[in-house]
Amino acid sequence: MSADQIMTVAVLGAGTMGNGIAHVFARAGYKVILRDVEQRFLDRGLDTISKNLDREIKKGKLAESEKGAVLARLEPATDMAAVAQADFVVEAVPEKIEIKRAVLGEADAILRPEVILASNTSSIAMTTLAALTKRPDRFVGMHFMNPVPMMVLVEVIRALQTSDATFSATMELAKKLGKTPVAVNDAPGFVSNRVLMPLINEAAYCVMEGVATPESVDAVMKLGMNHPMGPLELADFIGLDVCVDIMHVLHEGLGDPKYRACPLLKKYVAAGWLGRKSARGFYSY
Ligand SMILES: NC(=O)c1ccc[n+]([C@@H]2O[C@H](COP(=O)([O-])OP(=O)(O)OC[C@H]3O[C@@H](n4cnc5c(N)ncnc54)[C@H](O)[C@@H]3O)[C@@H](O)[C@H]2O)c1
Repeated sequence: MSADQIMTVAVLGAGTMGNGIAHVFARAGYKVILRDVEQRFLDRGLDTISKNLDREIKKGKLAESEKGAVLARLEPATDMAAVAQADFVVEAVPEKIEIKRAVLGEADAILRPEVILASNTSSIAMTTLAALTKRPDRFVGMHFMNPVPMMVLVEVIRALQTSDATFSATMELAKKLGKTPVAVNDAPGFVSNRVLMPLINEAAYCVMEGVATPESVDAVMKLGMNHPMGPLELADFIGLDVCVDIMHVLHEGLGDPKYRACPLLKKYVAAGWLGRKSARGFYSY
């Protein structure tokens, strides 16, 4: 299916990424079916979208009169059957292969054959996910960045099985959202996490080895390299558990010891110091 034929999009999962993805599609004029397993997760997702739209209104990026129309394009659903009408689907359910397998299987069974199924996974191989479906050539990675409404990049990841038509339709669709798609082949961590996570990991080693405090490491990267956020501040934002999990994916997938997770990161995770979400990581919140 070409990007011009896509009118209705389904987003599976209304969490951090799912509500952001639904937001940008609805903002770009698409009808969006937002599916989660329980009404309370949908309510939370819609509430976040409403607050983020208010923020855009405050910044003058969206007319106040438009907000109602954007929200009206969102159709929450707990029943997977609602997803059958979609022309394009983005999966943003938790990063667990068993959950992805179940959700992709359910969607695959009810979608029209020509519909493209995209995954927002940050670390599972697209080639593996494509192989779980009966439409591997119509499977693609669409890796949005958090927070989705603000971040311009979408890594469009080609699984081994992805057809040229699927790939170009997805690149085109990302542009219609006002995003900048970047073409990447399937490999552990893609480009974003392949480059970012070793940077964060090395920053953690600097702290562990007493090279500098977290504040100093972050100051060097912000003031010296013009990064808007220091790597350790960013790690706290992402979640230290997520960082360790992604390092394991790189380590396992690429087999190079340079990707081993920093012991200090692992220790923090063991202590329950996961970053912002647990009010303590490299910093206290
Ligand atoms: N958080 C990030 O910064 C980030 C960035 C890029 C990619 N990702 C990827 O995006 C995906 C989602 O991550 P997240 O941070 O939004 O997770 P999250 O936990 O915030 O949200 C996941 C949502 O999926 C729902 N869900 C669970 N089972 C479901 C099912 N069967 N059908 C529909 N919904 C279901 C959950 O109830 C939850 O609301 C993951 O694959 C993750 O790797 C996350």
